[in-house]
Amino acid sequence: FHVEMDAQETDKGTYPYYMLKEIDEQPNVMRKLAQMYLQESGKTNVEPELVAAIKEADRIHIVGAGTSYHAGLVGRKLFEKLTHTPTEVHVASEFAYEKPLLGEKPFFIFLSQSGETADSREVLVNVNAENYKSLTITNVQNSTLSREATFTMLLNAGPEISVASTKAYTAQIAVEAILAKAVGMAKEQVIAEEFDLRQQLGLVATGMQAIIDEKEEIEDLAKEYFVDASRAFYIGRGIDHTVSLEAALKLKEISYVQAEGFAAGELKHGTIALIEEGTPVVGIITQDNTASLTRSNLQETLSRGAKIITIVRQALAKDDDTIVIPDVDEMITPLLSVIPAQLLAYYTSLNKGLDVDRPRNLAKSVTVE
Ligand code: G6P
Repeated sequence: FHVEMDAQETDKGTYPYYMLKEIDEQPNVMRKLAQMYLQESGKTNVEPELVAAIKEADRIHIVGAGTSYHAGLVGRKLFEKLTHTPTEVHVASEFAYEKPLLGEKPFFIFLSQSGETADSREVLVNVNAENYKSLTITNVQNSTLSREATFTMLLNAGPEISVASTKAYTAQIAVEAILAKAVGMAKEQVIAEEFDLRQQLGLVATGMQAIIDEKEEIEDLAKEYFVDASRAFYIGRGIDHTVSLEAALKLKEISYVQAEGFAAGELKHGTIALIEEGTPVVGIITQDNTASLTRSNLQETLSRGAKIITIVRQALAKDDDTIVIPDVDEMITPLLSVIPAQLLAYYTSLNKGLDVDRPRNLAKSVTVE
């Protein structure tokens, strides 16, 4: 049995659905981005004018919709840590009509897989009217958002066909990390200089592959926990919270299980009332400083009848954890912690007999506001 490797990029090949193909492509996308944008010496191949423009900014504003918005939430942490620039993230459809108070020198980063989302474009039109500088990070060269922004960085993830976005999310995070490192280095931030992102993306690629190789076990979990569930929760703190939002969105979009991503510590302030016997709760645990706190929040749901799954970074793992993901730098753990969530959503949809790639009511690219 031989998987055709040079099949057309838009051909499903032997895959039953594009989504599984696109999940599988992620290790290669990581390697490709590392090669394109990062030199062995530690220097980056990012346009110097772009780096200079962000270096000058008093605040970075990231704008996106859906999964791209969630990638922006991770980006915010990367930009604040590596460049020491205050960063905000905006849902595009909100920003367009509720403009936040801007400083003297804002810089705008648009995240859009398609480069065509109308809500994001509406913000860019306003940004251009004010003559602010902007960057579009997109998978589609010459897309509308790419043409109309000052700068473009390409995801080079290959066409994403499945409505539920997978490889674009991880590619967006990787490109944000590359850009944040480039700007951080220009600002002489030690943390950015010491961040060996080229090596880290190599570890990420290997780690993604290791998780993907365990997909049968993840399918068993999907069948046991989600296929018959009416609702589910993903919880985490900090960067893990941002991944819980994306994980819940994946499950909602293609399996129609009502899912919520929640800040682990906030659950007890109301939402825990929804936990009943058998409600699935997934805890994402990748950060040293919050691991034990999230674990106690999981315990609180367990004692109310929840069925628990944990997605835990190796260094923090305990014997009874469900899914252990390899160790990478804490700043980029979403690149790995999201993979089991993508697979859980995929297999839930598949085992419910749904059309994984074309969920009801959704479009790949939304060109109306
Ligand atoms: C649609 C898609 C989502 C996507 C969002 C933003 O709603 O169904 O998967 O995340 O648009 O798309 P963009 O192309 O701007 O990243």
